[in-house]
Amino acid sequence: MATDFPAHHRFASGELFLQADRLEPCVLVIFGAAGDLTRRKLLPALYNLVRERALDERFAVIGYSRATQGDQAYRQVLHDSVVSYSRSQPIDESVWQVFAQRIAYVEGNFEDPEGYVALRRRLEEIESTIGSEGNRLFYFATPPSAASIILHRLSEAGVMESSGSDTPWTRVIMEKPYGRDLESATELNRIVGDVLLEDQVYRIDHYLGKETVQNILVARLGNTIFEPLWNRKYIDHIQITAAESIGVEGRGRFYDQTGVLRDMVQSHLLQVLSLCAMEPPVSFAADDIRDKRVEVLRSLRQFDSLEVFNHAVFGQYRGYRDEENVDRQSRTPTYAAIKCYIDNWRWQGVPFYLRVGKHLAQRMTEISVVFRPVPLCLFGRDDVCQELEPNVLTIRIQPDEGMALKITSKRPGDMLEVGSVEMDFSYSETYPHPIKDAYERLLLDAIKGDATLFARRDEVEFAWRFVTPILSAWESATRKQPVFYAEGGEGPVEAESLMDRYSRQWREIE
Ligand code: BG6
Repeated sequence: MATDFPAHHRFASGELFLQADRLEPCVLVIFGAAGDLTRRKLLPALYNLVRERALDERFAVIGYSRATQGDQAYRQVLHDSVVSYSRSQPIDESVWQVFAQRIAYVEGNFEDPEGYVALRRRLEEIESTIGSEGNRLFYFATPPSAASIILHRLSEAGVMESSGSDTPWTRVIMEKPYGRDLESATELNRIVGDVLLEDQVYRIDHYLGKETVQNILVARLGNTIFEPLWNRKYIDHIQITAAESIGVEGRGRFYDQTGVLRDMVQSHLLQVLSLCAMEPPVSFAADDIRDKRVEVLRSLRQFDSLEVFNHAVFGQYRGYRDEENVDRQSRTPTYAAIKCYIDNWRWQGVPFYLRVGKHLAQRMTEISVVFRPVPLCLFGRDDVCQELEPNVLTIRIQPDEGMALKITSKRPGDMLEVGSVEMDFSYSETYPHPIKDAYERLLLDAIKGDATLFARRDEVEFAWRFVTPILSAWESATRKQPVFYAEGGEGPVEAESLMDRYSRQWREIE
């Protein structure tokens, strides 16, 4: 194997990596090194971290996958990906050149012990060259079914240290979907627990790394005008929408076996819901926050198989069955709308509406908190009353990140006329710097050993506990077809049936 991996002193003059000791050194090993996630997200994120001098100088990446290629060919593939997908454009070739020298490639499949022997050799060689002190971060950018064999092979090859906190540490980032249902996720947790301590496991959900998702708690708890109202007394319902304008984008095989419930609801949507609904944590320490997120998931009302169809609508975009590697008779939903309840003191009786789908009118992820109407007709005037709309706080997760508050105001003029107006805060207008990509934040956190924005073992299991009955009801109702919806629209109109009161309606996807 070609070894053109230079010693660290050659980088010292490059000054692109942090010279300070803020971050610990480490080698990141990526399984699924040629995959979509690595090319679209991980490498562009790492490139941007290097560009912003956020990584320690003693940092390197090893990609591990089946393809036969050397370091140079692998770097070229990654270069092209960074050019296409980096958030900062155009890319700075001089930064890339420095970073590229820290990227190595090892060929091997997930099963074959010999691949892991080669990996170990390369890892040790690079560690001694760059002086990364034995800290290792493994990233499983692989399907959940591969996790168990990779873990065992790594363990047999003797490359896993047994601590996530003490130096030298070994940490493992595991991609979603974490399992396929409650049973497989519980089994995966058991297998992971046989090899690793919980403080070594970083179950990633990139929504938690989004700046605007982290702002949910700050907006709620940092503003006196919101938290006292944040409960069943003042809130009518909450809608969480994650609409995408794209379809499955060449991921037909993966998507057809996964579907929207596993791909988006079990992870991203439930994480956002937890942050909207959780109790204030005692502190911002990882487990204090995770304890509160878990409480929400535990309180989610579970549906039995009959109730599922009164609370959920499953859709599929019309061209889905023609996508490459998708079964021509596939029932896999690409859209779901679910009405759910959190059975606790704060939220009793308040519906949370989740809506998520591909190929909709716009890319739009947002939370809308719809407040209760005022108790009495304003000034006893029916005509004024007709114009009153409820207050809505909208947290725009992406794009056009920001928050808007809809309030009622008198229209200027001699008559008593009222209407809704909006107070709007936009990140791009307020903050000069572009927002970091979620993967940048999460990779840094994993290197720092901060698991706050990663899911804990019980958290994924409780999320599956809610989703699995919905999945099973859908998968076993083989005679039911998903509702087919036109690409570029709002999704199936059937979702309106979940809005059971005349005054409630889905927010427009605009
Ligand atoms: C991923 C899903 O986790 O999230 C994709 O697998 C989806 O299907 C993506 O497109 C959406 O992420 P974002 O950050 O673009 O909202």
